Amino acid sequence: MATYDSIGATYADTRRPDPRIAARIHHALGDATTVINVGAGTGSYEPPQTIQAVEPSSVMIAQRPAGSAPALEASAELIPLADDSADAVMALLTVHHWSDLEAGIGELRRIARQRIVVLTFDPDINHRFWLLEEYLPEAAACTDTPAIGVDRLATLLGGARTETVPVPHDCTDGFLAAFWRRPEAYLDPHVRAGISLFAQISDEVIWPGLARLSDDLSTGRWHQRHADLLDRETLDAGYRLLVTDL
Ligand SMILES: C[S@@+](CC[C@H](N)C(=O)[O-])C[C@H]1O[C@@H](n2cnc3c(N)ncnc32)[C@H](O)[C@@H]1O
Repeated sequence: MATYDSIGATYADTRRPDPRIAARIHHALGDATTVINVGAGTGSYEPPQTIQAVEPSSVMIAQRPAGSAPALEASAELIPLADDSADAVMALLTVHHWSDLEAGIGELRRIARQRIVVLTFDPDINHRFWLLEEYLPEAAACTDTPAIGVDRLATLLGGARTETVPVPHDCTDGFLAAFWRRPEAYLDPHVRAGISLFAQISDEVIWPGLARLSDDLSTGRWHQRHADLLDRETLDAGYRLLVTDL
């Protein structure tokens, strides 16, 4: 069973594509007239020219909106599509879940004709996000997803230009750092259900950390410590767009 078959049931509720991030992805896709989305999930960020989605979880595929591109139930490591199947291939917030990164990137390079667009996170920056650094410091060590350095990914892609994707304070796509200015959100189990990290770490790690966060919010300690965040519009939490021309 694919991991997201067990953790993805509410994905479409809490992980709504953010229009500002969508604009960055669509700009990166350039003038591609055909696009394949690998690790496509529920179809977030797919532009209208998407011809095919590739996704291993049937639970995620079932949440794709009516009328979206057809989905193949398959993994990035072995994509049952011909070489050069589309102008561009995109893989968004997915490479850290792949069991064989090299094989998966090799498949993206094989099925793309012109361009590959990958949205990922730089673990060195992402792991310094206040939620992890201050409340769940053991989390990075406990997850079963490997930290993938942006440089390594760029090398596997055969070279890539890297763009920072700042996270808006009211980001609608509820990934890990999306609630950087809305700390109460992490106390909501519905929000946490949309963040795979919480499914990968044990309750012994999660509960003491969340109890401290709850306490710091009720005493005002969090707001004192993070006063610098409160009037910011965006945060660089390590999210990066890698764009490769073949
Ligand atoms: C965080 S979700 C991202 C989904 C979508 N790209 C988005 O931006 O909303 C990660 C997705 O990667 C998928 N995934 C996990 N392992 C995979 C693999 N080996 N190959 C392709 N996709 C995989 C999961 O099933 C899940 O749908």
